[in-house]
Order: sequence, then C-alpha cells, then structure tokens
Amino acid sequence: MDNINRDYIDAYIQNLIKNEDEKLENFRQQCVERGLPIIHKEVGQYLRLVINQLHARSIIEVGTNVGYSSIFMSMVMKNEGKVVTLERSEKFYEEALKNIQSFNLEKNIDVHFGDAVENLDKIEGTFDIAFIDAAKSYYRTFFDKCSMKMKSGGIIISDNVLYQGMIATDELVVRRKKTLVRNMRNYLEYISNDERYITTVLPLGDGLAVTLIK
Ligand SMILES: C[S@@+](CC[C@H](N)C(=O)[O-])C[C@H]1O[C@@H](n2cnc3c(N)ncnc32)[C@H](O)[C@@H]1O
Repeated sequence: MDNINRDYIDAYIQNLIKNEDEKLENFRQQCVERGLPIIHKEVGQYLRLVINQLHARSIIEVGTNVGYSSIFMSMVMKNEGKVVTLERSEKFYEEALKNIQSFNLEKNIDVHFGDAVENLDKIEGTFDIAFIDAAKSYYRTFFDKCSMKMKSGGIIISDNVLYQGMIATDELVVRRKKTLVRNMRNYLEYISNDERYITTVLPLGDGLAVTLIK
C-alpha cells in the first residue's frame, strides 16, 4: 500500500501493460528484487505515451540510478534518440554505465556523474522531455534549470510528487520528512500556478506531475 492508489487498482493497471522486451523486463525484475527505486511500470507506460505523442528524440533525466529508466526511454525512442542523464552516486553511475553497455546503448545515452544542482547548467542542447526523478527537496531547482533547455511544446515530468501520500495530507507526514513535504508542496504550487506552465498531477505510481512549457 503506497497511500496513492489501492493495491488492486495499481495491480490491475500494471497487468494491462504488456512487456515489450524480455531482456528489459528481466532487468526491471532484478532492480525490483534489489529494492532499487526505479520507475513504476505505469509511469513507464505514461513515458512511452508522451515520447510517442511528441515524437521525442531528446530527453534529459535527473536521477539515473542504475539506468533502468534511461534504457527504457531510449528503447522507446527505438534507439533513434538521445537520453542525457545525471547521477550523483558514484556507485550507481558506474553500474548504470555497465548496464547501458550491456544493452548496446552507449551511443544513445550520456551519463553525467555529479550533483545535478551543479551540473545541469553545463549540459548543452535542447530537449523534448525532461524527467525529474532525484532528490525531492531540489525539484524546483531541477525544474528551473531544465525549463531553460526545453524545446517549444516540451514536457517536464516530475516523479514521486505525492510521496507516499504525504504531500496531500498532514495525517500521513512523518516528522523527519517535514522539510521535504514543505518543499514538494511549494514546488507543486509553483508549477501549477505559474502562467508559463500548464501542469496536471496524476496519481500514477508515487505521483507524477506533468508540465507543458507554453
Ligand atoms: C529514484 S532514483 C532514479 C531512478 C531512475 N530514474 C529509474 O527509474 O531507473 C533517484 C536517483 O537520483 C540520484 N540523485 C539524487 N539527487 C541527485 C542530485 N542532486 N544529482 C544527481 N543525482 C541525484 C540518486 O543517487 C538516485 O540514484
């Protein structure tokens, strides 16, 4: 129970999604078994939809972990696109490089090691999609830096924005997460009310904010 949807709803939605690639599905299973914080299946399906709708060919991602979502998005773009992804943990960065190599996607995915707060400004190029999936207290910084790099009509997708339901109700907030919750609520207010953006929050996975840059 993740306090977003009832388990039977999540299970039902996930069961509707067909697995496109056996090797990728095995990789996903291994990540889940290790308890790695990779995207939920239904979030992946939503990314697939947006990538196809926009005919996206360039994606920037904040938060690589071991590379699952960047490999997933690259494969959705049928290896014709480019994913630029940033990771601050050396251990995960090294592992992501190996995983990307095992899928033969080194030419399609650039992994940048280091803190995205410092490194996003150094990334060159413009992007159809930005996917924000890293330290939740810095979403506003990630968003502002990514928004400068978006193509017209680009979409910024922020994951985990309902954070186990805590963002939506004080009843679920645990003490040590108070700052994170405050920052995330401020972030959602910002992207929901600024006239430059159109945002909707979807109760998919751990909560997904989808923002069109007007
Ligand atoms: C939720 S995981 C990313 C999962 C990945 N997108 C996937 O679905 O396969 C978040 C990752 O972001 C990294 N991270 C957190 N804050 C960061 C920052 N400021 N800069 C770069 N990476 C960061 C963490 O080390 C972690 O590996």
